[in-house]
Amino acid sequence: MSQITLNNLTKQHGDVTAVDRVSLEIKQGEFIAFLGPSGCGKTTTLRMIAGLTMASEGNIYFGDRDVTYLPPYLRNAGLVFQGYALFPHMSVAQNVAFGLEMRKIDRTEGQRRVMEALALVKLDHLADRLPRQLSGGQQQRVALARAIVYEPDVLLLDEPLSALDAKLRHEVRSELKRLQSKLGLTTIFVTHDQDEALSVADRIVVMSAGKVEQVGTPRDIYQRPATRFVAEFIGLTNFIVGWVGAADCFHAAGGEKLVISAGCGSGITAVAIRPEQINLREREASGRDANSLANSLQVTVEEVTYRGALTEFVVKTNSGLQLIAHRQNDDMSRSAPPQPGDLMVASWPAAATIVF
Ligand SMILES: Nc1ncnc2c1ncn2[C@@H]1O[C@H](COP(=O)(O)OP(=O)(O)O)[C@@H](O)[C@H]1O
Ligand SMILES: [Mg+2]
Repeated sequence: MSQITLNNLTKQHGDVTAVDRVSLEIKQGEFIAFLGPSGCGKTTTLRMIAGLTMASEGNIYFGDRDVTYLPPYLRNAGLVFQGYALFPHMSVAQNVAFGLEMRKIDRTEGQRRVMEALALVKLDHLADRLPRQLSGGQQQRVALARAIVYEPDVLLLDEPLSALDAKLRHEVRSELKRLQSKLGLTTIFVTHDQDEALSVADRIVVMSAGKVEQVGTPRDIYQRPATRFVAEFIGLTNFIVGWVGAADCFHAAGGEKLVISAGCGSGITAVAIRPEQINLREREASGRDANSLANSLQVTVEEVTYRGALTEFVVKTNSGLQLIAHRQNDDMSRSAPPQPGDLMVASWPAAATIVF
């Protein structure tokens, strides 16, 4: 049995449908990320699961128990919201103990649990400090300790890392992942940051305008996006509209003929190719083509952007098809990169094509 089941969960705010018939099954111990742009309904969905917002329609089950109309304190969910809102006048230990006192847990047992939770987030040595004597990352870990201290069945996190700078965010997210798998804690993590979702989640729920667009592993979502929205929201993508002619031949609207994997069917109206799948090389005067991939287009370089680990190229075919290609900067000895105006060949294998 799944641990959390959402069944046509819906939230109406007047005319606005914030969450629109969301159905989902979450297994015990899973780390789920709700991912989508601002306003797509992530927070509202999480708040309904926590019991802080009442559903307009649909049901929420924890195991086989219908919790749709239960108050938050009867759901046993640990919460961490955006910004960490610790009590400024209480020590770290007192902040973490707060939820236990509310639950009338005995004092000695409470102290043991507080120290255990603080040890889990590696802050047991700072138990007596005040929040303002901690860094942002440490405060965020206190908020996490406060959410896990009463041993919740599920952990609900709403953009918990958004107040941290890039380096800390990376650090705390690794710790969160480690902690979550150590405790086997069923976790829902809300974020609008695709990198964060791809790196922490077992499965990602991509949302748009209150609806679920796709549910899948990070690899599924990235390599086999189900919709154009997903393809474009997660990672960069080259989206090309057109139609299928002969078996494995896709006619781009601009006139290029592209080879796609055979057996893709005839109902295809668009294809997508990730920038890192496109290989760029200088055009050879002889016209000889040593490593010929299924698709090879003559292109002109329009823009070159250095991005540290990779260089991004915008290239264009004669008929005006524009593509973005990435090249890893993994060779320090490589001579100067291609420049705008250079003539090149962009190629990719048929199997790199995502079809819609
Ligand atoms: N209390 C409310 N009253 C009216 N509209 C709301 C309320 N809360 C959220 N909304 C609307 O519902 C939609 C989803 O909001 P939210 O769940 O906060 O999105 P997200 O967390 O994905 O950014 C938005 O259009 C938002 O403006
Ligand atoms: Mg939100």
